[in-house]
Amino acid sequence: MDKIITIGGKPLKGKVKVSGAKNAVLPIMAAALLVDGVTNVKRVPNLRDTRTMARLLEIVGAKVRFEDNEMMIDARPVNNPVAPYELVKTMRASFYVLGPLLSRFGMAKVSMPGGCAWGPRPVDFHLKGLEKLGAEVTLEGGYIIARAKRLIGNRIRFDIPSVGATGNIVMAAVTARGTTVIENAAREPEIVQLCRLLNKMGGEIHGIGTDELTIEGVDELKPHSVEVIPDRIEAGTFLIAGAALGEICVCGVEPEHLNAVIEKIEETGAKITVSKDTITVKPAKKVLPVDVTTAVYPGFPTDLQAQWTALMSIADGSSIVTDTIYHDRFSHVPELNRLGANIKVENNVAFVRGQKELIGAPVMSTDIRASASLIIGGLLAKGRTDISRVYHIDRGYENIEEKFRALGAEIWREAE
Ligand code: UD1
Repeated sequence: MDKIITIGGKPLKGKVKVSGAKNAVLPIMAAALLVDGVTNVKRVPNLRDTRTMARLLEIVGAKVRFEDNEMMIDARPVNNPVAPYELVKTMRASFYVLGPLLSRFGMAKVSMPGGCAWGPRPVDFHLKGLEKLGAEVTLEGGYIIARAKRLIGNRIRFDIPSVGATGNIVMAAVTARGTTVIENAAREPEIVQLCRLLNKMGGEIHGIGTDELTIEGVDELKPHSVEVIPDRIEAGTFLIAGAALGEICVCGVEPEHLNAVIEKIEETGAKITVSKDTITVKPAKKVLPVDVTTAVYPGFPTDLQAQWTALMSIADGSSIVTDTIYHDRFSHVPELNRLGANIKVENNVAFVRGQKELIGAPVMSTDIRASASLIIGGLLAKGRTDISRVYHIDRGYENIEEKFRALGAEIWREAE
């Protein structure tokens, strides 16, 4: 296992180019299973999660070539609609193959995802949605087995907007018989990109980007190539780091996807300049404390909550960080406190008392975004921080230490 080491307290400066969005490419890769042909995907980040999804596509029978951030998925030979526990347990997003496999084969067997570092994370919306479309869904030996000769359109309402359930149901409904309406659908840019791709493949999805999607089922889809949107969470991570550590230009981004984050960074006193596809952050002398409450898109993303908490740990005053999406997503807090942060968590709220300085220490990363927050914490802290279990970060960030090093950070990787 590798660890990442930082020597903090150094100012950062420079340009960083963001990679393709992990959370956009994973459903796109699953959508490739819907067509009897070859899908080309450009700007695919080389991550543990994209490689895991590629492996899963191969297990169901697809041929996958992945080179230089380009992926070719040949779904013609797909013949085994089974997603095994060994893979699903390492990446919950594997569950995305349920809708496409069911729609293409009339049957799918996908391991039920287990718990997660941030709490229970149920999949009930996915399953209820498929049942509404006429699927028979059972649980056998830890596997969800869904069956339906052909799905039939229906009206589905999610209690709360779910990214994964929206993606899964859209992929199932796109070739169902008749009309499906999803009320309270997710509006995240990653779901928008998925729906647009499905339409290019011949689907008929209306209301894209709103909370009500209407899907007129079509008989067949054909392959279409796609370039993955920029990763707004990676971009946000660098911007949050820059708000304390130095002038950083984040390029190759879609600034509109980051409006809520930009607003909050500006409230810290940092200056933000936006052009067509770049965002530059220039920190103020002091980081002002700013409260954040996570929300579904276009609100402040839960995937940047941990990084924001790290920034607030050195703010000039106290702030409150509330996560309304994942109530238990605070495993980074005890680790940031090891660096000298003063954060108390009650239920889904972190009370952060900004400190004059953090001091390096050994810490342990527990999930993708917690790891990113510890890197920011380490870069803010005086002296050496050893962040262990960095395989989490490799799931979701492409070359993160190289990118920070190019900005002047003292950061490297070592085998533990
Ligand atoms: C996706 C993202 C993840 C992000 C999250 C919220 C991917 C691969 N992952 O996860 O990085 O943090 O969105 O933006 O895109 N819920 C249920 N039942 C369900 C499904 C969800 O109760 O069947 C709840 C969840 O517990 C959570 C909320 O709905 O409280 C939102 O979760 P959801 O949007 O589904 O997250 P994911 O798609 O798993």
